[in-house]
Amino acid sequence: MLSRRGLLTLGGAALVLPAGLSACSGGGGGGSLIGSGGANNSEEGSGGALLNSEVPLPDPFTVVLPVPPVLQPVRKDADTDYYEITQKAAKVEILPGLWTEIWGYEGIFPGPTVVSRRGRRTVVTHRNDLPVPVSVHLHGGRTAPEHDGYPTDVIPARGGAADGSREYVYAMEQRAATLWYHDHRMDFTGPQVYRGLAGFHLVHDDAEEALGLPGGERDVPLMILDRSFAADGSFRYPSVDPTLMKTPGVTAEYMSGVLGDCILVNGAPWPVLDVSTARYRFRLLNASNARRYRLRLDGGPPFVQIGSDQGLLSAPIEHEAIEIAQAERFDVIVDFSGHRVGDEITLVNDHGSGGTAQVMRFRVTRQETDDSVVPDRLADVETLSDGDVMFEREFTFARGGAQAHGMTLWTVNGKPFDPQSIVARPKLGATERWIIRSQNVEHPIHVHLAPFQVVGKDGNDDPGPFNHGWKDTVNLDSGGRAEILIRFDGFRGKYVFHCHNLEHEDMMMMANFEVV
Ligand code: C2O
Ligand code: CU
Ligand code: CU
Repeated sequence: MLSRRGLLTLGGAALVLPAGLSACSGGGGGGSLIGSGGANNSEEGSGGALLNSEVPLPDPFTVVLPVPPVLQPVRKDADTDYYEITQKAAKVEILPGLWTEIWGYEGIFPGPTVVSRRGRRTVVTHRNDLPVPVSVHLHGGRTAPEHDGYPTDVIPARGGAADGSREYVYAMEQRAATLWYHDHRMDFTGPQVYRGLAGFHLVHDDAEEALGLPGGERDVPLMILDRSFAADGSFRYPSVDPTLMKTPGVTAEYMSGVLGDCILVNGAPWPVLDVSTARYRFRLLNASNARRYRLRLDGGPPFVQIGSDQGLLSAPIEHEAIEIAQAERFDVIVDFSGHRVGDEITLVNDHGSGGTAQVMRFRVTRQETDDSVVPDRLADVETLSDGDVMFEREFTFARGGAQAHGMTLWTVNGKPFDPQSIVARPKLGATERWIIRSQNVEHPIHVHLAPFQVVGKDGNDDPGPFNHGWKDTVNLDSGGRAEILIRFDGFRGKYVFHCHNLEHEDMMMMANFEVV
């Protein structure tokens, strides 16, 4: 049992078992828990239960898409750009006419976009003016362990003896890519990200810029996520302890994940973007806690994927629809040149129903001549091969193997997260084969530090349609299996890998590896 963890110190009233569940169901019995008490909402195509808003939601496509501002450096020197971010609460108007308290980087949601150049160090000083500890993780970053936002390596709230600030140093020795930063505090990542602690961090490099892809106003990051709103306008989330100070976890029926009924893009509900008859580059990010999407352009062109989590593909790939799990990024080109002024194209979610089946709308409002290109060859992408493999490991992500207060936890190889225990010690520079399996519901698996390539998926010797290129997160269906080749490069030290369903992560579906 997990006496070191707060989850066990719940007051008697804290976690209530859904009807029909035995408080004594042992480890490994996880399968029978799923699907009862609304724990798995398969209509929404995602593990989790739908939480409805207590306020009326706006009509879709009435709010203009915001684009997060680019953060300006406070200073620069020969090889480094320095930034400052204050994390604080703020009231913002997300639903027209209603004020929502968010926790935001610089008090905005999404946070400001940080833009780095490959090879130039980026130093971000975070100041914590929130009432809780925080930890900042650059998702997809090749970052030294002491700057990676380890879950227990927190910045305390400012006040009293605590200075409440901390410098994160990013080497930025990595390819151009769409990264994002978000909270990673032990046990409370789900609710803290849900309140707004997420932002984009883009990396540029010369090779990418030489391609002539659409840029400027036509390079748009889209952070897609779901939220639910309480009667007072606040985000509705089923925390056991809404102060987020003592007891982690969500009430029993949301153990599989929290699904909101309102889709936000860049913080706005079902927004609309005016576009021209030209090519656009959209950096799609699914920053939802538990929801995954099947995105399609209704009445529009196909997506031309140019990049994955970790940067450019070797060549573009066309998709009618894109399956995007939590934390994944798809860098796509959408060509509106076949459209006429007045056309409307809706980005839909084929996994959703009702409001969650729609995401945002593009409205073609003007003609534009376009000199951007999408070259047939985008980048030299090294291919990892079996011959490189020095070690093989297997990990099963499932519900079962450990319990707290009668609740069966989410585990890796049957074990809940223990910050002290190391499950793998890859050698610096080594390539390993990891076989990852998923049970009970789907699990998007993310590995810190080390990018990987998916070489097999669900019994096939290929990555499947959505796992090309360098990845840092791979989506597994319930019963799914992925074979990945992963190279541990850059830094020695202790890092986590985990499920990026944030409710699963908070309820222990995480483990440590140490690069030695
Ligand atoms: Cu995006 Cu460890 O997380
Ligand atoms: Cu990460
Ligand atoms: Cu999971």
